[in-house]
Amino acid sequence: MKKIVIAIDGYSSCGKSTLAKGLAAALSYAYIDSGAMYRAVTLYLLQHNIDPADEEAVESALPYITIHFENIGLGNHTFLNGEDVEEAIRQMEVSENVSQVSVISAVRRAMVKQQKAMGRRKSIVMDGRDIGTVVFPEAELKIFLTADPEVRAERRYKELVEKGVDVAMEAVRRNLAERDRIDSMRSDSPLRQAEDAIVLDNTHLTHEEQLEKAIQLAEAALLQTTNQSVSL
Ligand code: DC
Repeated sequence: MKKIVIAIDGYSSCGKSTLAKGLAAALSYAYIDSGAMYRAVTLYLLQHNIDPADEEAVESALPYITIHFENIGLGNHTFLNGEDVEEAIRQMEVSENVSQVSVISAVRRAMVKQQKAMGRRKSIVMDGRDIGTVVFPEAELKIFLTADPEVRAERRYKELVEKGVDVAMEAVRRNLAERDRIDSMRSDSPLRQAEDAIVLDNTHLTHEEQLEKAIQLAEAALLQTTNQSVSL
């Protein structure tokens, strides 16, 4: 069987990472959370009192930031300069600043370069905002995940409360709306659906149902890729 690249894009808190993780596990593919990389950069800036609005200062900090992923237990953890920051990058303070950091072209260039390298050997599922449009425009399968904004806010709120984060529903709602706005309005690689992406609306789907649909799409893409290479 041929190996493929699967790109999953969509708005914040649509369940992209749950779907991407499940799909990667079902196919024995690697999973990369590209948003975690932008979050790790943001965390570094906050830790070093660098103003995320100061583009020059942010760009100068980039050579000091190294990000990698490691499989720990059941999860894929994000490491910033050798330190496990998987929990720290999910805090509200990072969420509130990450969109601003990810509009900076120098940050995007650095992240996209690393992401492209990760996909060189295929067998990868990557989720984010520009994966199907910029990082892997040639991906064999592109899924654009959507869900009702109120449902997304409820899911995100529940997730944060379960993690013990003290937050108000209204703050979550506002943060999501603001991130949607910045992510889709920025001039450098804004969030948009790739022309050849398949839209999957999971508002009324369970995790299992959305995973089942995605596996079907992946199987079809794998079959098509294998058939194409046989007939060449
Ligand atoms: O998926 P997430 O919410 O963890 O992503 C955090 C932020 O990173 C999001 O607000 C936008 C940015 N991001 C991006 O600009 N491009 C990506 N490929 C992934 C995330």
